[in-house]
Amino acid sequence: MQQQQYQFDFEVYDSIDELPAGDAALLRQAQDATGIAYAPYSQFYVGAMARLSNGQTIAGSNQENASYPVGLCAERVLLSAASSVYPGVPIETIAISYTGKNVNSDRPISPCGICRQTLVEYETHLDHPIRLILGGMKGKIFVIPKASMLLPFGFSGDDMVN
Ligand code: THU
Repeated sequence: MQQQQYQFDFEVYDSIDELPAGDAALLRQAQDATGIAYAPYSQFYVGAMARLSNGQTIAGSNQENASYPVGLCAERVLLSAASSVYPGVPIETIAISYTGKNVNSDRPISPCGICRQTLVEYETHLDHPIRLILGGMKGKIFVIPKASMLLPFGFSGDDMVN
């Protein structure tokens, strides 16, 4: 028997003003994208903004439904949009922010499990790491070098090949 360890390094910034200018701009756009969320049921508005390797940016936001499980997180809306508008173009960085009715939005949120699985699929499919910038409307910001760091032992399509 051997003990093994899983760990990863990430950056913590005290505020958006500490971020490099390009990252700060992307996070501001993610903050703005909370305004296009359709979240009448949770009133928790998530915005995501991607910068692609072709220099283009694309936004996503959560899209809810009266049949609650039908709703989509901002991250998956964004990934589907990016893959549809710019098929095959790697995603460099995604900034994610949020606000809400009874929410302080003073610390980062991180993607849910289904979104992590989806992010990893696009990293693999496009053969490029996706950096994540996670921050609220204020407060600390986390920068994760690649999304797959958030999903140790995630399921891979390779596992289906005998
Ligand atoms: N949500 C996201 O859009 N992204 C996340 O990472 C977590 C949760 C959405 C789903 C739902 O519309 C609302 O936030 C409350 O869970």
